[in-house]
Amino acid sequence: MTIETTQEFYGRWAHLYDLIARRTPGVSRLRRRVAAACRLDPGDTVVEMGCGTGANLPYLREQVGPEGTVIGIDVTRPVLDRATATAADRYDNVHVVRGDATRPPIPSTGIDAVLATFVVGMLDDPAGAVDDWCERVGPGGHVVLANAARSEAWYAPPVNAVFRAIVVLSTPPTTQLRYEYPPHVRLDERIDAAHTRLRANSSAVADETHLFGVVRLTGGELE
Ligand SMILES: C[S@@+](CC[C@H](N)C(=O)[O-])C[C@H]1O[C@@H](n2cnc3c(N)ncnc32)[C@H](O)[C@@H]1O
Repeated sequence: MTIETTQEFYGRWAHLYDLIARRTPGVSRLRRRVAAACRLDPGDTVVEMGCGTGANLPYLREQVGPEGTVIGIDVTRPVLDRATATAADRYDNVHVVRGDATRPPIPSTGIDAVLATFVVGMLDDPAGAVDDWCERVGPGGHVVLANAARSEAWYAPPVNAVFRAIVVLSTPPTTQLRYEYPPHVRLDERIDAAHTRLRANSSAVADETHLFGVVRLTGGELE
């Protein structure tokens, strides 16, 4: 997916995506958990790459408190408008910035944690992005990834069928029924590459699955 396709897709569906991002059963619990996996202290600075409509931002703000800083970065203006309305307008220390997560418009020092949920599957070089985020947080900092990928649980077949349908329907062009390289396969490969690289770069602080095994959460502390 190019940046332009991403912007067009999420721009058009910002309202619907926001509902899914906030109201899917169990998702609030997951967002609280990913924020906790960032191992933040009051006063810390955390950056969320591809923050979308800002569903994680209040949980990150809860972790850093009024003295800390939360920065959400996304390439799509309409989703950032929602993130502004629901988080940045509510808290003085939550900021949203338009930018590319692979070249984030932020200083390369002073960041305690980077979070990216449901984003690395859209990047051409997910492992390279993880390397860059790890470098930015530096020793003692944390990088946390959460992504939907096919479940390996015993009840997986129906869950995976639903997952595959969601991926196909949410990947433009949604009308295409046969792909040379199916989007759910590419998504799985990118997610694997990102989580594997994070595990290689850091000591594990979280290695879990959530929501019927469909969401993988990996958190690492940099050495
Ligand atoms: C599936 S949504 C996830 C949003 C949010 N992280 C969440 O958990 O609800 C993916 C988001 O990543 C953004 N995105 C995709 N590629 C990006 C990039 N290279 N840089 C910044 N944002 C990107 C899209 O605009 C979209 O808002």
